[in-house]
Amino acid sequence: MTKSKASAPAKVILFGEHFVVHGNPAILASINRRVVVNARTISENRVAIRSDIGFAGHYSGSIFRMIEGGMEAKTILDPLHSAITRILSSRSKKTGIEIDISSSVPLGIGLGSSAAACVATVAAVTSLFQKKLNRQEICMMAIESERLIHKDSSGADCYVSTFGGLIHYRKDKFKKVQAKGPLALIIASTGIRHFTGDLVASVSKFKDSNETLFESMAKQAANICVQAQGAIQSGRHDRVGELMNENQALLRQLGISHYKTDDLIDICCKAGALGAKITGAGGGGAVIALAATKEDSEKIASRVKAVGYDSYEVKIDREGLAA
Ligand code: MEV
Repeated sequence: MTKSKASAPAKVILFGEHFVVHGNPAILASINRRVVVNARTISENRVAIRSDIGFAGHYSGSIFRMIEGGMEAKTILDPLHSAITRILSSRSKKTGIEIDISSSVPLGIGLGSSAAACVATVAAVTSLFQKKLNRQEICMMAIESERLIHKDSSGADCYVSTFGGLIHYRKDKFKKVQAKGPLALIIASTGIRHFTGDLVASVSKFKDSNETLFESMAKQAANICVQAQGAIQSGRHDRVGELMNENQALLRQLGISHYKTDDLIDICCKAGALGAKITGAGGGGAVIALAATKEDSEKIASRVKAVGYDSYEVKIDREGLAA
């Protein structure tokens, strides 16, 4: 039996979600919450997937047997199974594989849990064999797998999870962004899970029925990204916060906001946030807020908790994939 382990971080999108699917830029950061995958070869000819997030099952060929997680288990586990079988067939390996996933990333609230699981799975399973893949190859394979659940994925989530840090991303190309001074970030969650693919489809529908409007909104979103990158690099956090609020106005106009995210944004801003917006696909999910100082971020996170939502401070992860 051969064993291996890999882990990949969750992410937040500070600017540009949804517009990034249509070729616009986005600014993302990987954060200090991870999905860890332990992989091993097994003698039975099957792919078995276990996790501590409520989903488990095994595949004999393409036949799936659910062990935990009900109807949703197959949707969640299929991309991982597909990644594993593609690795096995590219290496002409006949062995069975078992993976164990442990995750500190809440599922389906915009923090990139499925991208991180795909990246860590590809890295762990390829490490079982000779000729390891480089990060770019792992990332591309993870994107292909992620596209099984969300077919129009921009790839941004897999890129930031693989390469880590704060990045500017556009159409399969990324650049690291150097922030001046630490960004005090808070995640506040509605607890409402979303399906990214459905929300991306609803934005495409909006685009098709409002072409000129969408074009002008996309220009504004791109301009916000340019300004935000400059403000992050020069440490003008007040300006970063204002730009987050402007980006949120565009997301609300796209129709992917939710009364609970609007409520959370309001709570964060009243508790002193410099700015707050949805992070990720929306339709519930989570909000990202920026505070001026660590003390302010503690205050904001506890205010959010006091009114009954989940909230935590996060740090930017510099490492990305660890394999
Ligand atoms: C999801 O985390 C981000 C979206 O922009 C979709 C994507 O980039 O594929 C909504």
